[in-house]
Amino acid sequence: MSYENVLTETIGKVAVIRLNRPKALNALNDALMIDLGNALLAFDADENIGCIIVTGSEKAFAAGADITVMARYNYMDVLKGEFITRNWETIRRVRKPVIAAVAGYALGGGCELAMMCDFIIAADNAKFGQPEIKLGIVPGAGGTQRLPRAVSKAKAMDLCLTGRMMDAQEAERAGLVSRVVPADKLMDEALAAAIVITEMSQPVAAMVKDSVNRAYETTLAEGIKYERALFYSCFATEDQTEGMAAFLEKRPPSFKNQ
Ligand code: CAA
Repeated sequence: MSYENVLTETIGKVAVIRLNRPKALNALNDALMIDLGNALLAFDADENIGCIIVTGSEKAFAAGADITVMARYNYMDVLKGEFITRNWETIRRVRKPVIAAVAGYALGGGCELAMMCDFIIAADNAKFGQPEIKLGIVPGAGGTQRLPRAVSKAKAMDLCLTGRMMDAQEAERAGLVSRVVPADKLMDEALAAAIVITEMSQPVAAMVKDSVNRAYETTLAEGIKYERALFYSCFATEDQTEGMAAFLEKRPPSFKNQ
């Protein structure tokens, strides 16, 4: 399947989706978000794929929602058109692990999109920010909600109120990104992490993702209960039998995703 605004490729069991509006620094318009959503759902449904990487260009992961489009909108346009709600959160429906490989600008909706992925690997030239306030709007795709959960209230307030950018090192210290790597190694590192994940039991990887995400949606007691139920259910899988047998036999496991 080919798309106009994203490029896709598969490398073994890893799918790579590259945002591709280079002239606009991957500004996120409807056409791009629809293509991204469709590509994500197609790879999620593909049994041969175990992990998805979402990336952009060397200069920009994405510089935010498309300002040229938003500049024409009034209240009724965004309300009736369900702007953002309509096609931005498809990524949250994906059950397979999704890694954001971020180089260059991840601003506004670009930062929010990266935060909708399961974890972020950043190139050392990455810059994150929620500059919406400078446009006279608040972040609209989760910036005020996911950023304080990922970093801290102080850092999120600082970024959302001043609109300043933070570099990759600051983002790693703050806990927004899991690792920072040299820009020219970004895809190699993201691919290596993705391959490790594809070698795990895929149903169990989906459970891990689901359970970690649950931590942000519920109380500790409910989250622990949820995790316990998933943990017990692993003992109904062949992959648990195989994983533990492989450990005891001192050999690598061969998961069958059963
Ligand atoms: N929307 C539309 N076009 C954009 C864009 C955006 N968010 N960001 C960059 N572009 C376009 C520029 O208009 C420019 O196009 P032209 O060549 O046709 O003039 C092209 O991309 C290159 O950009 P610059 O010339 O500005 O490049 P630069 O290197 O000088 O600056 C930048 C890079 C600092 C990222 C700057 O482009 C910038 O500040 N962009 C806007 C960032 C922003 O405010 N993002 C938040 C958007 S609002 C949002 O996302 C709402 C939400 O929460 C969902």
